[in-house]
Amino acid sequence: MSVPIKISPSILSANFSKLGDEVIALEKAGADYIHIDVMDGHFVPNLTIGPEVIKKLRPLTKKVFDVHLMIKPVDNFIKDFSNAGADIITFHPEATPNVSHTINLIKKEGRKVGISLKPKSKIELIEKHLDQVDLILIMSVEPGFGGQKFMPEVLEKTKKIKEILDNKKLKVEIEIDGGINFENCIQAKKAGANVLVSGSTIFKENKGDLKKNIEILRTN
Ligand code: DX5
Ligand code: ZN
Repeated sequence: MSVPIKISPSILSANFSKLGDEVIALEKAGADYIHIDVMDGHFVPNLTIGPEVIKKLRPLTKKVFDVHLMIKPVDNFIKDFSNAGADIITFHPEATPNVSHTINLIKKEGRKVGISLKPKSKIELIEKHLDQVDLILIMSVEPGFGGQKFMPEVLEKTKKIKEILDNKKLKVEIEIDGGINFENCIQAKKAGANVLVSGSTIFKENKGDLKKNIEILRTN
């Protein structure tokens, strides 16, 4: 039996002047999650949005807010993002002096915990925490910008993580993020990813037909 695939469109590629409408359109188009990229100009060389924007988007949809924090240090902001309405809070292990502590802060808020590996980050960085998290976010581009080229070398890491999770009988979601298109989504799924993040492909292919693009990513 194949695993159901979830699509988490990244609003990084949306029109920020009408973000609310874009989120509503994504829900109508069949998105499972809404991927929200938070960047601080320090952990990554770009700036995006903070909790206040997420708080304003929250009443517009019941969809899961899949919040990807690319900020360092991360701990001081967990509460703010939880209060803003994040459902899954994902952080990078390099952004905290104590990974377990950050995991516990998120759990204390009653939110789901995601942990993310940059393309060059090794599985060993997170291995002992696998039984404490709900989601592993594998970056298939260097974090910081949308529209970059997918790095196929992360597929091996994805397979390895899937194998470890299966061996330990852990039910943890595997999400892949960066440069996902209609072709490489097939390999990503084969490698074990069950959540696909996509910005450019969903917002730009087929003249921005969100529904069609989500459907193709899901079923290809
Ligand atoms: C990169 C972000 C992304 C990414 C997705 O730092 O985490 O979520 O930009 O956008 P595309 O699909 O355009 O690579
Ligand atoms: Zn992301």
